[in-house]
Amino acid sequence: MQIAVISDIHGNIGALEAALADIDRRGIGEILNLGDSFSGPFDAGAVADLLIARGIPQVMGNHDRFLIDRAPDKMDLWERWAYPRLTPAHLEWIRGFRALDERHGIVMSHGQPGDDNANWLHRRAKDGSMQPATLEEAAGPAEGIDNPVILSGHTHLPRAVRLPGGPLLVNPGSIGCPAYFNDHITPPFWAEMGAPDACYAILEQAGGAWRTSFHTVPYDTAPMIALARRNDAEPWARALETGWAPR
Ligand SMILES: [Fe+2]
Repeated sequence: MQIAVISDIHGNIGALEAALADIDRRGIGEILNLGDSFSGPFDAGAVADLLIARGIPQVMGNHDRFLIDRAPDKMDLWERWAYPRLTPAHLEWIRGFRALDERHGIVMSHGQPGDDNANWLHRRAKDGSMQPATLEEAAGPAEGIDNPVILSGHTHLPRAVRLPGGPLLVNPGSIGCPAYFNDHITPPFWAEMGAPDACYAILEQAGGAWRTSFHTVPYDTAPMIALARRNDAEPWARALETGWAPR
């Protein structure tokens, strides 16, 4: 059985369509979504419509939560782009997302269990860059979870770690936001995939063990770059041109 894992779409409908086409081409029927699907300078409404039409299970990302637990005039920039494009029906659907879910024995989380805003497979270094978490850092939040596969998104960086005892901890990377520079906190931090492509993971159970593979899907980013520029989101446009974050 193969399962595709997507995360951090951030409203990028062009990237989502490209990734789903790639998943469909491989004949994979099961898709799991780790959240942060809407916030960004693209088309949150089109993303919501497509995820609903495809019936893709999703957990709540921190940016999904910000859309439903903050008053519109208190929202940060990423949500201020997305919120007007979502209908009351979309918001009602988002309210139903669970923070933690389990499908096919696989644990789905956005950040860490109990904290949708926590990095798991990477950590923020003193210089602001994202560095791979150590084995101890990766294993800590998994304590008490005995599932064979645990999923976490949020950082936008693909990585797999085999935890002591065998569980596979996987971050599928980001579908729609390949790089960001966040200077809303001090010191600023950033993450960069190094390619503008949509990135996702495939899980496969073979010989009694789970394995994963990461897939980068190139697509025509020009319409999304134009949309970002229309929303005065130059850093997002540059990230989609290069896979790196301007700073
Ligand atoms: Fe997130």
